[in-house]
Amino acid sequence: MTQYRRLKGTHDVLPEDGLKWIKVENEIHQLMQVYNYNYMRTPIFEKTSLFARGIGQLTDIVSKEMYSFTDRGGKSLTLKPEMTAPIIRAYLENKLYAQQSLNKLYYISPLFRQENPQAGRLRQFHQFGAEALGSPNPTIDAEIINLALSIYSSLGLKNLTLKINSVGDPICRIPYKKTLQEYIQPNLAKYCSDCQKRFDENPMRILDCKNETCKTLNKDAPKISAHLCDDCKIHYTQLQILLDQLNIKYELDNNLVRGLDYYTRTVFEITSMDLGSQNAICGGGRYDLLAEELGGQPTAAVGFASGIERLLMVMEKQGLLLSEEERLQVFLIPVGEAAQQIITEWLYKLRNAGFRTDMDYLKRSIKAQMREAHRQKTRFVLILGDDELKNKNFSLKFMDKNEQISVPYEQLISFLKSNSE
Ligand code: HAM
Repeated sequence: MTQYRRLKGTHDVLPEDGLKWIKVENEIHQLMQVYNYNYMRTPIFEKTSLFARGIGQLTDIVSKEMYSFTDRGGKSLTLKPEMTAPIIRAYLENKLYAQQSLNKLYYISPLFRQENPQAGRLRQFHQFGAEALGSPNPTIDAEIINLALSIYSSLGLKNLTLKINSVGDPICRIPYKKTLQEYIQPNLAKYCSDCQKRFDENPMRILDCKNETCKTLNKDAPKISAHLCDDCKIHYTQLQILLDQLNIKYELDNNLVRGLDYYTRTVFEITSMDLGSQNAICGGGRYDLLAEELGGQPTAAVGFASGIERLLMVMEKQGLLLSEEERLQVFLIPVGEAAQQIITEWLYKLRNAGFRTDMDYLKRSIKAQMREAHRQKTRFVLILGDDELKNKNFSLKFMDKNEQISVPYEQLISFLKSNSE
């Protein structure tokens, strides 16, 4: 018989890790609400052209990594590889701009990219992210960066590095691209094949190639910061002033370009030394032209997205995921047939009162039931036998202390409540 296995680059979240995901996601929801961002979900697949136009034909994501397929109606669809283009599509389609001029949105979502799997690089992975649509003001760039860092700090993460850059706008990029091409041209044949392909259409992407030869060749490349137009320069300087005011440390990285084509002005990445070669935990930036590119009205926008698997890897490395036990609060053990029905009634009463409660469903011996209660690190075991039935009370065993007392039915819930904190 075939033994089915999960596909390369995908993960099962097993019961022992379930609570870690819940806790991290709860923290994300909580902080996003505090910053006044609203939760959104979009479909798992979209028209392929949304991503091709939005992210850019020449990007690795669109040219090599998308899970695209033709449906039975002959349409080309794609499992979403990122969330920014779908959020803009939904924003335009649902006219969210008509309801308020600044829309602050967030998401937690699975995404799909057919990359070569390695530690921290998956084919199905998860991101949380935020997008602020409607303001060109650098204060919102600073808020977006601050929001990402606040979530990390509330989860206890340390030693993160924030790098920022400005990739300018189409006005200052045209002369800069020419200058850059003039610098690269004499050595073009020595660059990797990806860089050679990018030379004509997107030479700036050559700057953040990870190939060692390309990196060496790029050492003295002209810097975008020296070529920004006045408006972009002011925006970039203001962002730095705002980050200083917020006491956020950052490095200026002239070679930070990012792998998606929609960025204008601000780009940033947050990295962790506790990740391997895939060290980016978060990436983002401003993308003021994307809404128009997707057929909508001009909309200034900025956002970020963070990989949740990478976040969990850093937390694991930094010892932040230790000893989160899912303890059972109450385990009920009936002794004899008569107790069975009353025990079942109490099972639901206790659950309705909010206690994590369970009982045996396998007709195990009392001894085996006690073993099960131990295995689940249960706090209280309630035993109901003939004597208890007669006296309308439970024998309550404190599993941590190995002590036993009697508690009358009517006092049980308040007793458990006051002993659960
Ligand atoms: P991105 O840099 O492609 O940006 O992805 C953001 C983050 O998602 C990365 O820093 C990484 O933590 C995680 N990530 C990406 N690919 C993988 C993968 N194959 N396996 C595991 N984790 C991965 C974007 O997606 C943009 N939409 C971000 C953005 C939002 N820009 C503006 N708004």
